[in-house]
Amino acid sequence: MKTYAFLNVKGGVGKTTSATTIAHILATEYNKKVLLIDMDPQGNCSSLFSKKEINYAEVLERVLEEGDLSLLREYPKTIGDILIDSSFDINEVIYDTDYKNLSLIPAFIDLSDIETQLQSDIKNPQQFRLKHQLEKVKNNFDYCIIDCSPAVNLLNINGLACANYVFAPLKCDKWGFAGYCIAQSLVEALKDYNSQLTDIRCFLTQYDGRTIVSKSIRETMKKALGRFFIDVQIRKSVRAEEFTYSKMTLTDYAGDSSVAQDYRKLTKFLVEHY
Ligand SMILES: Nc1ncnc2c1ncn2[C@@H]1O[C@H](COP(=O)(O)OP(=O)(O)OP(=O)(O)O)[C@@H](O)[C@H]1O
Ligand SMILES: [Mg+2]
Repeated sequence: MKTYAFLNVKGGVGKTTSATTIAHILATEYNKKVLLIDMDPQGNCSSLFSKKEINYAEVLERVLEEGDLSLLREYPKTIGDILIDSSFDINEVIYDTDYKNLSLIPAFIDLSDIETQLQSDIKNPQQFRLKHQLEKVKNNFDYCIIDCSPAVNLLNINGLACANYVFAPLKCDKWGFAGYCIAQSLVEALKDYNSQLTDIRCFLTQYDGRTIVSKSIRETMKKALGRFFIDVQIRKSVRAEEFTYSKMTLTDYAGDSSVAQDYRKLTKFLVEHY
């Protein structure tokens, strides 16, 4: 099993769009067995692929009314359960999706609370909880794709500790490089835990080749990052915004769009090079 983590501490740069679209393309167009892990309390991957609809408003209302956070535990088991309890069977949190080769470990909003619990739970090394669990299922999948949250925290450290490669989508704007620098420093800090992690590979998202700004950002990144820059741009497209409302994957919603074609090209590049 090859593990790719999508990370950028900057929010809204295209981590989830990239992780979900690439996972879906690998499963449906490359016939690979894919495990997608949602490491973000926002649960964006989970709401796209989860067959079990969780009514978040209803859950929160009950928790607030009864003042009892443990009510959250009545809901389907998630990534949080395996991070908190190392005896928990990872197979219990691997769910089927509507796609034959694509499985999901979902996240729930309580993941941010679990992050706090993890910090204080020092009986086992906190950084390797996910890694130890994934060992048990590594022969069942060809790829594991991890969608990280926009933060420097123990959840992402757990994700990075398992990753063979880390990919940072950089939004094509003047803050893109700053996100890269912070993410790179996180990877630097983790090299002692994961000797396979050498550097982050980057690609540009929301690229508009008609503008001078986009073109010059690409040239600057190419020069600055050298071989760590993946020169496959994901173009800016209204389709990439629309599909998030559709409960469909990007390639199901707009398979012929420029942005879907770009993700196919990027997936091919990743399969061939990493
Ligand atoms: N190529 C694109 N063109 C236009 N809009 C895009 C593109 N890629 C992503 N978006 C939009 O940008 C927004 C953020 O994308 P996404 O959720 O993938 O980012 P993220 O990095 O995962 O965010 P977060 O840090 O909050 O998890 C979404 O509304 C998405 O539809
Ligand atoms: Mg996201």
